[in-house]
Amino acid sequence: MDPTPIETPTIVAGGGSHTTDIQGLLEFFSRAAEDERFNADNILYEIDLTYRLSMVERAMYKYLLIPVVRDIFREQGRSWAWTEHRPRWGPGRDVPMNLAGDTTSYRSVIIDSALGLQPPQEGGLPTSSPITPFFRQRVAEIEQWILNTPAPEYPLEYDDALATAGSLLFEEHCAVCHESGRQNRMGTVIPLEEIQTDPSRTQAWTREAADLANELVANELGMARSPMSKPYDGYVALQLDGLWLRAPYLHNGSVPTVRALLEKPECRPLSFYRGYDLLDQQNMGFVALRCDEFGEPVLDLPPGCPAKHVTTGCVPELKGWWHDTREAGNSASGALVGH
Ligand code: HEC
Repeated sequence: MDPTPIETPTIVAGGGSHTTDIQGLLEFFSRAAEDERFNADNILYEIDLTYRLSMVERAMYKYLLIPVVRDIFREQGRSWAWTEHRPRWGPGRDVPMNLAGDTTSYRSVIIDSALGLQPPQEGGLPTSSPITPFFRQRVAEIEQWILNTPAPEYPLEYDDALATAGSLLFEEHCAVCHESGRQNRMGTVIPLEEIQTDPSRTQAWTREAADLANELVANELGMARSPMSKPYDGYVALQLDGLWLRAPYLHNGSVPTVRALLEKPECRPLSFYRGYDLLDQQNMGFVALRCDEFGEPVLDLPPGCPAKHVTTGCVPELKGWWHDTREAGNSASGALVGH
């Protein structure tokens, strides 16, 4: 998060990690493993600079850990090779189901993605931390921390009168799905026919795969968690706290700002840049447009749509990743309910 381009960026605990390029990181690991410099001599040399290993540890690293890690990274590169022929995920996203899983349960996300907890691979080599009592305790602690961390307050100035007017509109049109602590539709699945956002995510997960994942975690790891959901025919209506940090919006990050989300779906930007961390004060979200040579933001709107999306900042040449809503799974459709 960065309110002005010149300030040092601020990291907000609990905010979505919209700048992290997970696909790039995975590629880096597998490419590094293909490089001949990835060998025990070089890696032990680097370890020696900061830590003194015992003779036994040295031997373990040299003959077991480093070669095995190298093999795992190479294997990972091979098993993810298919992603080269698909649209890139871009910063802030990972391929659905593989890393994040289709779940809105904190516990599940901690177990599956944050800690990368996986059962031992064939051959008995663990690919993640051992499941000790300490480990279990940490899972519970992280979960509590997430649940008890309040949403970070909006840091920039805003107009009180507009906020009050907006909260009345919110009550009237949105609270039924987005306000917590009431008997309403928050936390429930809103069917695709109603919400009409991009359906791809709902099709990427099968009942069988969900059952298998649940069984694996419950039986092999002995960790209880709320079950991975069956494939939903829709998307869950979530609480909107900390919304200023959650851009780009919708499950597929296909809408750059709240203003664009409140536009009719057919008049939302066709493309924009994601992964920049400068707040867009006018539209709520992050600055998502590049500017032309006159310093004017270039809006990629369908013909005939009004250019209401005024913004003062621009995504610099070397920042941001171009997001095309016309690519499979990237559509900015739907979510017009009550808007
Ligand atoms: C019928 C229920 C419903 C109503 C009413 C509704 N929404 Fe939503 N909203 C949803 C669902 C479901 C999603 C998730 C859609 C997706 O990710 O594809 C969503 C997503 C959003 C998001 C994106 C959240 C994020 O983190 O990406 C915002 C912002 C939002 N709604 C704002 C509003 C506003 C403002 C209103 C009122 C004008 C409103 N919604 C009315 C169901 C609703």
